[in-house]
Amino acid sequence: MLYFSYGKEMYRLKTEKLSTSNKDIARAAALLKGGGLVAFPTETVYGLGANALDGSAVEKIFKAKGRPSDNPLIVHIYDINQVSSLVLEVNDNAKRLMEAFWPGPITIVMKKSDKIPSSVSAGLDTVGVRMPENPVALRFLKACGVPVAAPSANTSGKPSPTLASHVAEDLDGKIDAIIDGGQCSVGLESTVIDVSSEVPMLLRPGGITFEQLTEVLGHVVLAFECKEGAAPRSPGLKYQHYSPSAPVYVVRGDFDEYVIQNSKKYEKVGVITSNKADYPSNCIVKRFDSEPASYAANLFAYLRSLDGEGVQVIFAQDIDCKGINLATNNRLYKAAGYKIANFKGGRLI
Ligand code: TXA
Ligand code: MG
Repeated sequence: MLYFSYGKEMYRLKTEKLSTSNKDIARAAALLKGGGLVAFPTETVYGLGANALDGSAVEKIFKAKGRPSDNPLIVHIYDINQVSSLVLEVNDNAKRLMEAFWPGPITIVMKKSDKIPSSVSAGLDTVGVRMPENPVALRFLKACGVPVAAPSANTSGKPSPTLASHVAEDLDGKIDAIIDGGQCSVGLESTVIDVSSEVPMLLRPGGITFEQLTEVLGHVVLAFECKEGAAPRSPGLKYQHYSPSAPVYVVRGDFDEYVIQNSKKYEKVGVITSNKADYPSNCIVKRFDSEPASYAANLFAYLRSLDGEGVQVIFAQDIDCKGINLATNNRLYKAAGYKIANFKGGRLI
């Protein structure tokens, strides 16, 4: 099938669209091993893969995404035996994390070996390695046989793709193939944790929660706030990410009253909430249920879909930071560029 629908339109794809059949997975692996770029599903988001040991293939990723070259890539594996040649040492903390959470939505940053090209590590002396648990991802990685460098398969700065059609929206004609494996179950990118030094640093909250990490490691430092002027430890964190075209505001306090008062100023408003209120008729409402995992799985799709509807502004309800909500909140605040409206008693406070 060479056609993809997004919104109301049908597009003919220039990029090859592949299924999850054995034949198509073998085709995808052959394209990758030949130096090509292949988007594939994982349990977090779709990844844009290239042979991690081939520096010039990896450089194509940066070009296709418009990604700054100082932002390192995660290396994906299907077998734990692949790790030893990619890193200098698998220390005790790394071992504990692998045992507890691999395969799964967690990237472990360790000191890199000489096998990792500098385009993958963006000049750092470390590399992030992840074994995904999505069965299609594992079959594809196994068919490739080489470690696969893969960032999220979106244009840099856009929300990460949780459907193959999102990848096509951003990268059609710029990459060789997309494997369509349906919707990603976690829906937010992996947890990134640096265990290359003594104190483990949580660089990006994700599918494996802070609570789960501290249970396994004891002390973990939160290192992902990126206030202006502070040097982020993970290069990717200094770029604005996950942003739809419409400005996003995170609303704290009286959400419904804020929306009712402020939506008057616009023709079309996007609203992301778990509340059940009746909002004005110019609001397009994305309602998440009280299950945190389901909000995490849908946030990026909500942002893309509201953009597709042409809303001028998005008001999103603030949520707590427990469990997976820490990651959802982190992506939401980034999408908002940290624009927060504190609204109580009919006015901003
Ligand atoms: O869930 C995921 O992690 C997805 C799927 C495809 O696996 N991949 C992904 O990759 O989100 P990307 O490139 O969009 O985000 C990787 C993040 C970036 O913020 C990058 O700076 C950070 O991980 N990172 C990668 N290697 C690092 C390293 N050696 N040290 C510090 N941060 C690193
Ligand atoms: Mg990304």
